[in-house]
Amino acid sequence: MESMVPMETLVSLCKRRGFIYQSSEIYGGLASAWDYGPMGVELKNRVQNFWWREMTQLHENIVGLDASILMHPRVWEASGHVESFTDPLVDCKKCKQRFRADQIPKQNMETHSCPECGGELTDPRQFNLMFRTHVGPVESDAFLVYLRPETAQGIYVNFKNVVQTARMRVPFGIAQVGKAFRNEITTKNFIFRTCEFEQMEMQFFIHPSEDGKWFEQWKQERFEFYEKMGIRETRMRFHQHGPDELAHYAKIAFDIEYEFPFGWRELEGIHNRTDYDLRRHMEYSKKDLTYLDDLRGGERYIPYVIETSAGLTRTVLTVLADAYDEEEVEGEKRVVMRLHPELAPVTVGVFPLVKKDGLAELAQEVARDLREDFTTFYDQGGAIGRRYRRQDEIGTPFGVTIDYQSKDDRTVTLRYRDTMEQVRVPIVELPERIRQAVREYRRVD
Ligand code: GAP
Repeated sequence: MESMVPMETLVSLCKRRGFIYQSSEIYGGLASAWDYGPMGVELKNRVQNFWWREMTQLHENIVGLDASILMHPRVWEASGHVESFTDPLVDCKKCKQRFRADQIPKQNMETHSCPECGGELTDPRQFNLMFRTHVGPVESDAFLVYLRPETAQGIYVNFKNVVQTARMRVPFGIAQVGKAFRNEITTKNFIFRTCEFEQMEMQFFIHPSEDGKWFEQWKQERFEFYEKMGIRETRMRFHQHGPDELAHYAKIAFDIEYEFPFGWRELEGIHNRTDYDLRRHMEYSKKDLTYLDDLRGGERYIPYVIETSAGLTRTVLTVLADAYDEEEVEGEKRVVMRLHPELAPVTVGVFPLVKKDGLAELAQEVARDLREDFTTFYDQGGAIGRRYRRQDEIGTPFGVTIDYQSKDDRTVTLRYRDTMEQVRVPIVELPERIRQAVREYRRVD
């Protein structure tokens, strides 16, 4: 089995190569908040686009939505989040540290002793994870609102709008990507669990009698999605929620788990939310959210929802951890991010062998043309081997090198990141050769 990258190594590469920085670093940082640098934002956008294409473009019965983060506060009463979206917390009276009661050893809970210093723990208190803020200039009489803890509710409250304006018929889905916020008490492991994060959620509305069939279908499709992105199947598995793990809205839930360097953890949740959310919004808003099904002889019902809920930022961590590889090449360590070419922040690196004798000019011309089709990075500084290594570390799948022969016959070498194989290719054929290699990509370790 391949070895796992230590988190410190991954965090350090992410900083060094401009993927992820600590938020407000010059002020000492803000715990659990992270900024995506030039490489990170490209990677995150590509993961998001991959999901969006998969979920909307490739499904004729799924449409998109972009709802606002701030919503009417009644939404969160109806959804059950005001009442039930809580974590049990305990405080140590001695060292003042705070812990999630369900995450510390059972023995400590039984003896009321702090897992860090042995001091006395308080009884557990329920702590709501939603961030609150106010709309209006004077806090005392302003309107209390919450930063949404999941994007899903924006979809439920727009269910009727979408049915009417996009003329969707059950079964159909609504997909959305956006920020969510949770006042998490334990925020370690880099970008795995943060207070501000992004979700990629899809709510699939179905006839209640078909929930088993659609649940199974989405479970399989979502697992295959990660394989398509190049994530190793051996590091993924399903985990079914037991009765004590189920969220307040779920009848059945499965997580897709990934084996992170810190252990198996949830990557995405697939939930059968039944008619819980639409029914509750009907009760609280007094609006009719039933669906008239003309394909079922005019039957009127509240659709069930199968939800697929993935973390965008958590998927970025998964992609990075899964891609990291080290090997020895000619007595030196080569660090290579084996990212799927559709996710890599840069697709092609272009390098003149040397700057002089017109090679730089020809290389710039090649880079300019490739830029029309691919994210391209031009680099003429330093030894060619070092330039390759820099691109390997950010996962650039293809390298194009312009040498003296290029001036004579307008051919270049095309280098493949994973195998380091180099082939001679006419400049005019480069775009098609690269496109083909992207289409046919299979990871080689
Ligand atoms: N709408 C259902 C829902 O939000 P969830 O299991 O609480 O379900 C779904 O969250 C996904 O969102 C998780 O599988 C994870 O990928 C991501 N996620 C949840 N909390 C997160 C956090 N604090 N930081 C980063 N990602 C998080």
